[in-house]
Amino acid sequence: MTEIDLRSATAALMDDLGVDRARWNDGDLPVRTPLTGETIADVTTTTGADLDRIVTDAGSAFRTWATSPAPARGELVRAFGQRLRDHREALADLVTLEAGKIASESLGEVQEMIDMCDLAVGLSRQIGGLTLPSERPGHRLMETWHPLGPVGVITAFNFPVAVWAWNAALALVCGDPVVWKPSEKTPLTALACEALLTRTAEAQGVDLPLHVVVGDRDLGIAMAEHDGLPLVSATGSSRMGADLGPRVAKRFGRSLLELGGNNAATVMPSADLELTRRAVLFAAVGTAGQRCTTLRRLIVHEDIADELVEGIVKAYAGLSIGNPWRNNHVLVGPLIDQHGFDGMQAALERAEASGEVLTGGSRVDLGLPDAYYVEPAVVGMPSQTELVCEETFAPILYVLRCSDLDDAIDLNNGVPQGLSSAIFTHDLREAEQFMGALGSDCGIVNVNTGPSGAEIGGAFGGNKATGGGREAGSDAWKAYMRRATNTINLSDELPLAQGVEFS
Ligand code: UN1
Repeated sequence: MTEIDLRSATAALMDDLGVDRARWNDGDLPVRTPLTGETIADVTTTTGADLDRIVTDAGSAFRTWATSPAPARGELVRAFGQRLRDHREALADLVTLEAGKIASESLGEVQEMIDMCDLAVGLSRQIGGLTLPSERPGHRLMETWHPLGPVGVITAFNFPVAVWAWNAALALVCGDPVVWKPSEKTPLTALACEALLTRTAEAQGVDLPLHVVVGDRDLGIAMAEHDGLPLVSATGSSRMGADLGPRVAKRFGRSLLELGGNNAATVMPSADLELTRRAVLFAAVGTAGQRCTTLRRLIVHEDIADELVEGIVKAYAGLSIGNPWRNNHVLVGPLIDQHGFDGMQAALERAEASGEVLTGGSRVDLGLPDAYYVEPAVVGMPSQTELVCEETFAPILYVLRCSDLDDAIDLNNGVPQGLSSAIFTHDLREAEQFMGALGSDCGIVNVNTGPSGAEIGGAFGGNKATGGGREAGSDAWKAYMRRATNTINLSDELPLAQGVEFS
């Protein structure tokens, strides 16, 4: 593909999706495709003054949106989900162009948005509170849930739309307008989603409860510090979260953080090694190692380590690495940019000091100097060094050996992050121990399936330096609402709680 081709392919998709050219054609922020490194759009960024106006508008939209019935709000999300279905391929192509994912994963990402819309539509008829027994005669005690206000959503480049949908689909049915700052590396799909939701809202005569803002870290900080956003939900590195969280807390706002992961898979002797090998491959290499749930540490029992690692190294040799645009055979696309590549090279250099690179790590030359394709790496490490405890956002799999399950759990938990984990075993007791109170300390704990690729039905998120937030399914919706406890006296008396007398 030549330069003209990808820029015009992008333009054709943006036009097809109905995105106003003023937003992306001759703005001040060049958007580069990791596929070739060339500029495919020039997006207009949002100033601080724009943000103030947008948050004020979101505050006005809140007054009507919050008071429309939740099932009516669900109707907007239902129709938006239908538009996503109608534009599935175009949106997936845009994800590939701006994030570099292979087609199947890009389609999966759009599917994740659709699934979230379906879940939220159901919730729009279910979000409700408890009625509890009151200790006082003639009294009712209950909890009610109310919309919170405009919600700020900050997303990362690696899931340019799915993670937004986890937040937005819930926020919208909960009655909250959304101000969304996508990664400045991947703003195009965000603008496309905004355009699709705008048309959906217009068709229903609803004031648009979504605004996309485009900018860098400073804009994110302005959102964190903005009193008009009672909740800021942010995805990114632990470093970003450590900066953002206190800024939100300082104004007594609420933050929902989904930060770094350093996910491990423990493999015990009873495991099905062929299944394990396949699971490891997808989890370590999928999305070119750029998922927060990517498998970064393989903790393998010494009795089976040689056999499993040999199989994995062999499988790595057969990976097709290349430009996934219109090529369904490619399994590993590019890293997002030079920054990602430099981080990977720096980690590999440090790894060589104590460990051994078993395969991969080199740049793959496709004759594209501004694109960063790499061979995923497997690195044997004698122990869990400082380097292994860090999240390097690239396809490096560190292999550590363990002698028993207690040892494996210590390694699994011995890092600052606590997002996702997995055990491969056919021993029921080992699986239970891993999932139990003194087992894996992560927010996601899987058995005989890898740590990445979660479904949306469960709550998604992790502990410790991963930030503690929970998004997507289960009761994650509660983060987007405020709870009131109501005591209603239906009697003619005034009994006081705890039997207190005051007369
Ligand atoms: C992320 O990388 O930020 O579980 C999210 C998964 C995907 C979401 C990853 N469903 O791997």
